[in-house]
Amino acid sequence: MKTKTLKRKDLNPKVAVLLGTRPGLIMFSPVIRALIKGRVDFFMIHSGQHYSYNMDEILFEELEIPKPSHYLTGVAEKKLHGAQTAVMLEGIERVLIQERPAILLVGGDTNTNLAGALAARKLHIAIGHIESGERSYDWRIPEEHNRRMIDHISEYLFVTNEKGNNQLLKENVMGRTFIVGNTIVDAAFQNIELAKKKSAILEKHGLQEKKYIVLTAHREENVDHEETLANILNALELMHQRTGLPIFFSAHPRTLNRLKIFQLTERAGRIPGLIISEALGYLDFLRLLSGARLALTDSGGVQQEACIFQVPCVTLREVTEWTETLEIGANILAGVAPEKIVAAGLEMLQRDGGWPIPFGDGAAAQRIVAVVKEELGRLAGKPASAA
Ligand code: UD1
Ligand code: UDP
Repeated sequence: MKTKTLKRKDLNPKVAVLLGTRPGLIMFSPVIRALIKGRVDFFMIHSGQHYSYNMDEILFEELEIPKPSHYLTGVAEKKLHGAQTAVMLEGIERVLIQERPAILLVGGDTNTNLAGALAARKLHIAIGHIESGERSYDWRIPEEHNRRMIDHISEYLFVTNEKGNNQLLKENVMGRTFIVGNTIVDAAFQNIELAKKKSAILEKHGLQEKKYIVLTAHREENVDHEETLANILNALELMHQRTGLPIFFSAHPRTLNRLKIFQLTERAGRIPGLIISEALGYLDFLRLLSGARLALTDSGGVQQEACIFQVPCVTLREVTEWTETLEIGANILAGVAPEKIVAAGLEMLQRDGGWPIPFGDGAAAQRIVAVVKEELGRLAGKPASAA
């Protein structure tokens, strides 16, 4: 390469898909299926951000995603945001120069996506951002930085619904917006029946349909602070005392590490009714969540899935991107004070679902791929049908 950037004539009429984290793999699985079905020329890059078997490999197996042709290395050792992003940026840039795709697809707000979007932007490769336009308006959290930066350097902004679209228009983004729905709905619809058929997670733990609570917590602002993590444990103890319901805690590796570092593992193990497990595979998790009476979570994806499966949700945060779940009564923001979590939990246990799904109809991936095909054709100067 003679210059530092690529010209349009240097680009090949193909798409790069960037994944590398648990939510990324799940949100991209319907897109990958649609790209294959639509006979689009594409390849995948794995950023290496998530690497444990139950955060990565298991999802390829369960979702039957083909293996990426490029795997970046050296990311897992990096602990700081800057260092982690920098290693991925450099690795992705190298692959993009080698492959020269016309479009890079990124999805969500993790460091993987920021690194990919920056690499593509510098090379003049068009960026498609899936799950664009979401905001928590909390400028302290890393995901808010990432999604705002990605949205402002992307060409194609794939949004879930009108709310995200309006936000992007208000921010005067450079790219074009497309309201397509959220691919997490596609993934949930495509996999729930399989999950019910294949998973024996309830039987394994002696759980009865609608007679248990499910919990996930992994966000930096919650689990990296000893007092906050201890507060969450106190809330679980109180919650079990007040409801008698068992609580299944599917713990992200970050959270298990933090429990250990803060010497809270034993304390957690002594809480009556609490089952702590390593993170589950997607099928087991879908089965567990869809059968739960209540979900307690700080995950973005789990808030959405609880809403999709009509499971009342309490979010262990002060803010959420998914405000539509609050408006329709599917979710309450509780923060992390034990009394508030318990009060919100008791209130949500009175609710029984019945709300609409505000994240689309399960055909988001199809719409995204239609836009991608059209654009590949346009960028190559050919009619869409020839792309
Ligand atoms: C990342 C995303 C977050 C997303 C979450 C999904 C950023 C800034 N954060 O957070 O938005 O909600 O993924 O799960 O991109 N670890 C393992 N094995 C793994 C992955 C992580 O042991 O496969 C442990 C390591 O100790 C690692 C720590 O978890 O240092 C944090 O991992 P990292 O990818 O930096 O952030 P997440 O908390 O996973
Ligand atoms: N999930 C999973 N196993 C678990 C917990 C969650 O497969 O033990 C899935 C869940 O179904 C959802 C996704 O992980 O689709 C959410 O990812 P995560 O909570 O890691 O990140 P976030 O959505 O907050 O970015």
